[in-house]
Amino acid sequence: QSVELGEHRHYMHKEIFEQPQSVIDTLQGRISGDSVLVSAFGHQAEEIFSKIEQVQIIACGTSYHAGLVAKYWFEDIIGMPCLVEVASEYRYRNPVIRPNTLLLTISQSGETADTLAALRSAKATQADLASLTICNVPESSLTRESDLVFLTHAGPEIGVASTKAFTTQLVALALFLTAMGRVQNRLSTGREKAIVAGLQKLPSLIQSALQHEAVIKDIAQQFADKGSALFLGRGTMYPIAMEGALKLKEISYIHAEAYPAGELKHGPLALIDDTIPVIAIAPKDELLEKLKSNLQEVKARGGQMIVFEDEDSNVNTDGDDLNVIKATTNVGRITAPITFNIPLQLLSYHVALIKGTDVDQPRNLAKSVTVE
Ligand code: G6P
Repeated sequence: QSVELGEHRHYMHKEIFEQPQSVIDTLQGRISGDSVLVSAFGHQAEEIFSKIEQVQIIACGTSYHAGLVAKYWFEDIIGMPCLVEVASEYRYRNPVIRPNTLLLTISQSGETADTLAALRSAKATQADLASLTICNVPESSLTRESDLVFLTHAGPEIGVASTKAFTTQLVALALFLTAMGRVQNRLSTGREKAIVAGLQKLPSLIQSALQHEAVIKDIAQQFADKGSALFLGRGTMYPIAMEGALKLKEISYIHAEAYPAGELKHGPLALIDDTIPVIAIAPKDELLEKLKSNLQEVKARGGQMIVFEDEDSNVNTDGDDLNVIKATTNVGRITAPITFNIPLQLLSYHVALIKGTDVDQPRNLAKSVTVE
């Protein structure tokens, strides 16, 4: 993928729209028939995967959010314990590393100082600790220092706020989970086939999500004068809400925070009035009814709600004046968080445009934090 801006005003916009292709490139050569190729993770992958009893994910920023989504997937789909921690915490405490743990670093750059230091300190504690990195840069410190390497093929990411790297990290994590599930007989052939089929559908799902840009652009107008926003989700949509809030903070400088919707009543409900936009992600899944009742609580307090939902989530059943965006159509467990993230990227982008910030190089931030 080229580094020319072409028709786009910013790299971030270009990179958001490159995502269908980035997914195609990341899947390319990693699937054979209905199966994920274990060898795509390195020639020792089969042997290492067969011994793993727990996955410890370490990352920073957006890459950390990819890890949080993967935790839901790992424990839910293949019943494998999965811990996730930000690298700057992990490296400075004395974590208990259980035997047969796989240390998985996730990083766009492969050079983030804290992530690299966390890998090194874990290896120093436990010399035979197996490590895998999911990384976008082939010749990087993390790829050199990890036993197994899986490269995301997002292509160069120039915008400081990560978009396509995140999407391809999630694809990589889904491939990893599927490969590990097969090696350990934790996944039926039918389930593997369904995951692979879902991943192959992703480029067109993302493409459809991108088509909501015009309506998202209109909604972005409501943010221009706001000082704060709240993102809500449940299950895998909680880390997607965190990523949505991070994007908004990074490029529009609006304070934003994410909450698992079930925690509203333990604090953030006190913030709700008609000045704070509440962004909810409402896929049609087994948590939808719970989420709807959380949203009723927001509505009852005059909260200004923006809901991204599936075609038949029907959050807006009583015909209220809500901003409801039918973002996707009942996608699966793996594909839903990846697809729902796309409109959140577009929302932040358009809010930032209205605010006139430096979208690709937000103040005080760096693309890669290589010093502590
Ligand atoms: C910086 C970037 C973020 C990125 C984080 C981790 O803060 O601005 O976009 O998510 O570093 O970077 P990595 O290269 O390790 O994914």
